[in-house]
Amino acid sequence: MSDRRDGLILGIETSCDETSTAVVNGEDEVLSLIISSQVDLHASYGGVVPELASRAHLEALLPAIEEAMRRAGAGYGDLRGVAVTRGPGLIGALLVGLTAAKAMAFVLDIPLLAVNHLEAHIYANFLQFPELEPPLVAFVVSGGHTLLVHMPAHRTYSGLGETVDDAAGEAYDKVARFLGLGYPGGPVIDRLSRRGDPEAVAFPRAMLRDGSFNFSLSGLKTAVINYVRKSRERGEEIRVEDIAASFQAAVVDVQVDKITRAARDMEVSRVVLAGGVAANTYLREKLEEALEGKGIKLYYPTLDLCADNAAMIASLGWRMLRDGDTSSLDIDAAAVLPLSQGRASS
Ligand code: KG4
Ligand code: ZN
Repeated sequence: MSDRRDGLILGIETSCDETSTAVVNGEDEVLSLIISSQVDLHASYGGVVPELASRAHLEALLPAIEEAMRRAGAGYGDLRGVAVTRGPGLIGALLVGLTAAKAMAFVLDIPLLAVNHLEAHIYANFLQFPELEPPLVAFVVSGGHTLLVHMPAHRTYSGLGETVDDAAGEAYDKVARFLGLGYPGGPVIDRLSRRGDPEAVAFPRAMLRDGSFNFSLSGLKTAVINYVRKSRERGEEIRVEDIAASFQAAVVDVQVDKITRAARDMEVSRVVLAGGVAANTYLREKLEEALEGKGIKLYYPTLDLCADNAAMIASLGWRMLRDGDTSSLDIDAAAVLPLSQGRASS
């Protein structure tokens, strides 16, 4: 049995299509982590159906809470706080988790910690690497977000750039859907690309040399679709591995260039990747290569902590509890929640 002096926090994550619960002891000891994925439920629709997601969370959440507590060997009386994703995400899905967390905080008379999902993705790195400290540059890439931020100190962010249209994960998912590869598209494109030629098709690298830290992916997505349509019309054979690898290379080239420049401009020696797309093996490899020669260290969480999970929510919740950043029980869920409003003090 572990030393529980730090205090146990229960984490709850229901912002999208994973129902996840976790118990952490202090900031970096995960005692249990349950991830109940709804991927099969949404796969035939090619994306997440919000109403189905809410209902599935409702069914899965209470058993997932009980299971997380059981695996942690914890009783409800051991909890020092309950941390929950407040946003951003699907509003109906968020409400399931937030309502359950409020009820628990009220009944157990413990603090409610309302967590910003994007901030928690960044904090998955602090959970995994206890020696990691700011200042750093963080690249937050998921199904809904593409954000490049400077983090000079803990829980302090200044946005450098973001996507002006599609999020990176969204682009992977849309291209995969068009190619008939199923949902979610990121992991499939990543896997297929290993057998493809990234230089087979010269897809556009939008905003590569514009001097900003912004991203644009909708033109690339259209370019892939047009290329495949035209090739099919002409009766040419396309290798889906080559299309996938060329698309991925176009996405990653721009990301690597901008992240590297941001790290240099901000004069940091650490870069962290966060969010579902941080699982991308090509991004990890190419960025590592680019940063290596510059004396900048790259951090990214293991796969289960890159994807949506409640351990990162509970871990950040523990830090919020320590900082006195607790929430009142009338706090609302927020479909849109900027990173700078991570402090949920209202
Ligand atoms: O953070 P996340 O689990 O959920 C959101 O908060 O959006 O991110 C999910 C996204 C999906 O779009 C999925 O296709 C993408 O992350 N993804 C990947 C990879 N694994 C997941 N994208 C590229 N390469 C991957 N290996
Ligand atoms: Zn996420």
